[in-house]
Amino acid sequence: MKCFKLIIAFSLLAFFPSVSSADEGMWLPALISQRIDDMQAKGFKLDAEDIYSINQASLKDAVVLFNGGCTGELVSDKGLLLTNHHCGYGAIQRHSSVEHDYLKDGFWAMSLEEELPNEGLWVAFLVRMEDVTGRILEGYDVSMSERQRDSLIEANGARIKEAAVAEGPSYEASVEPMYYGNQYFLFVYQKFDDVRLVGAPPSSIGKFGGDTDNWMWPRHTGDFSIFRIYADKDNNPAPYSEDNVPYRPKKFFRISTAGISEGDFTFVYGFPGSTQEYVHSDAIRYIEDMNPKKIALRSERLAIMKKYMAADQDIRIRYSSKQANVANAWKKWQGEHKGLVKLDTYGTKKAFEEQFAKWAQDGGYEGYIGLTDSLSRLYGEMYPYSYAMDYYAESLNGVDAFRFARNVGNYISHNGTEGLERFIESFFKDYYYPIDEETFAFMAEKFNEDVPNDFKPEYLKQEFSRLGSVGAVIDSIFAVSLFTDREKALGIASLDSAGAMNAVHSDPLYRLADSYYSNVAVLASAASEMSSRIALMNRTYMRGQMEFLKDKTFYPDANLTLRVSYGKVEGFEPSDGVVYLPVSTLEGIIEKDNPEIFDYDIPQKLRDLYAAKDYGRWEVDGTVPVCFLATNHTSGGNSGSPVINADGNLVGINFDRVWEGTMSDLAFDPELCRNISLDIRYVLFLIDKYAGARNILDELTLVD
Ligand code: ARG
Ligand code: GLU
Repeated sequence: MKCFKLIIAFSLLAFFPSVSSADEGMWLPALISQRIDDMQAKGFKLDAEDIYSINQASLKDAVVLFNGGCTGELVSDKGLLLTNHHCGYGAIQRHSSVEHDYLKDGFWAMSLEEELPNEGLWVAFLVRMEDVTGRILEGYDVSMSERQRDSLIEANGARIKEAAVAEGPSYEASVEPMYYGNQYFLFVYQKFDDVRLVGAPPSSIGKFGGDTDNWMWPRHTGDFSIFRIYADKDNNPAPYSEDNVPYRPKKFFRISTAGISEGDFTFVYGFPGSTQEYVHSDAIRYIEDMNPKKIALRSERLAIMKKYMAADQDIRIRYSSKQANVANAWKKWQGEHKGLVKLDTYGTKKAFEEQFAKWAQDGGYEGYIGLTDSLSRLYGEMYPYSYAMDYYAESLNGVDAFRFARNVGNYISHNGTEGLERFIESFFKDYYYPIDEETFAFMAEKFNEDVPNDFKPEYLKQEFSRLGSVGAVIDSIFAVSLFTDREKALGIASLDSAGAMNAVHSDPLYRLADSYYSNVAVLASAASEMSSRIALMNRTYMRGQMEFLKDKTFYPDANLTLRVSYGKVEGFEPSDGVVYLPVSTLEGIIEKDNPEIFDYDIPQKLRDLYAAKDYGRWEVDGTVPVCFLATNHTSGGNSGSPVINADGNLVGINFDRVWEGTMSDLAFDPELCRNISLDIRYVLFLIDKYAGARNILDELTLVD
């Protein structure tokens, strides 16, 4: 028996290569002492307490969650912060107008007075994290239903959070499940709301390569922007005020000018959003089925946008941000799909499940016997619901007027009509009716074709059969709606709240949108019984995997909590006969430079600097380094994360992954998965030579 188990464990190595040699993993900082030996063996020179400590300032005090979806890092004792250009994009766009177009021309504050406040923009520091599994499950017994367990967790969590929030000024707290709820951690944050824009390169540098280069190597994007955190006189968080002063952080990164070379240790410290590394093969199969469908839907949407954007400069600007978002996921799914197929993740998981089932059977582990089969059956039952809900999500995401109709309804119910005019104007600033109409026609038609009748909203079915064609639906619903016409929409703002609400509710497009939103909620609730059975089984299966692979070191899936990923600078072979070097330089920017192609049209000043070889101290081997590849396991949300060297100093800013490795959210492959970082020396070169912002440069602490 024992011997047999050993054989299984051994053969499993083929399926699950030991994580410690593969750089896979997003580790919880509070538990980093469990990884520190491995980190040090790979070159890291600091200790666990330097990474995360509740007794002294540590690197975690120099990292922030940036506006709830990105990461940023502190680089001066006056609250100066670096993140990606694409993370600061919204703020930069909001300050831009025809007179001063910071997106196009860049922005550099030459003094504190010139820094620009940003309403609604926030950052949060992690104060501490703590395993609260015992406290969160206080009062739990196994006879409870999932729903009872959920409410218990909710109630216990509320108490734990309340106590945590009282510990300090502007503290916020959340309790997050790890390993599908086998463990719970409390995260206590301190949130700052006065965050000002300090610098950004022009988009032709910060977004160089655009969607063409997005997710790709070789990469040459100067994807950074600079902000500053402000606090009150006592260094505490405060809403924006002219009296606020630069925040004095507990810790900030020193910047290494020594650079990186192939093989160097790297450590990414940030907030990856979401991964599913331990899911059942049928969850993978679902993703493999769905990705091509979602890609096809978005291909058509992108083609519609492209047609209008290419014809008109103004439309191109108005749709650039929307287009970038649609294209970002669209391109990622394609890479993910290829990666899953290439790795045969489905087959690998299936084989693993067979081994697991055999282990459970042979060992007589009651709770795990038949588990993977049950999960498979449940995923089968869930499939049509998930499928329909994905179509709803893509439709609602695709048609701007749908979301707008609902948002106006919500706005009025919260605020009445006060400020509604501004709200409406800001929507129509970036709206173009012909794009939305054509998208609606396409999405409605696909939805009608692909979603089974039982899963469609009644109102949609009724209107389509009454009117007979999409063209007629457009004529009598879409084209006449208040929500597709600026003038008509502004008419709502001049009514009183009750009148406005009435107008909204009787609008045919509002009713159509509402039927989608209501029906997707109906579907979710019909599936909620299944979802909670799946949640319970996944929790059991996760625990089972951890017992089965006793010697494997597990890490919890990403959930937008602070993580440590470590690896090394390394190129890769994306396909047979192709080798990618790990470093790109200014030479590649010049090679791609083309005034005829929007994505590759660099500013003249950069051309001039290149022609004069005016690189100053940032010159390396006759050029300037720009981006580099490394083996760190990262995900969406890691954008803007500090990339740290063996000495704990900043060498780069993470901003992307390679296309061939984007399946790492589901299955990490050490041969193919690479994160892409901006070399900090390119950032310094741009601040110094391109922007001439000595004030910013002087604030940084540079070390060799
Ligand atoms: N792919 C990167 C990320 O996932 C960068 C996205 C922004 N750039 C773009 N061209 N859309 O967020
Ligand atoms: N660009 C991504 C972000 O915004 C990071 C790339 C990734 O998904 O790894 O977080």
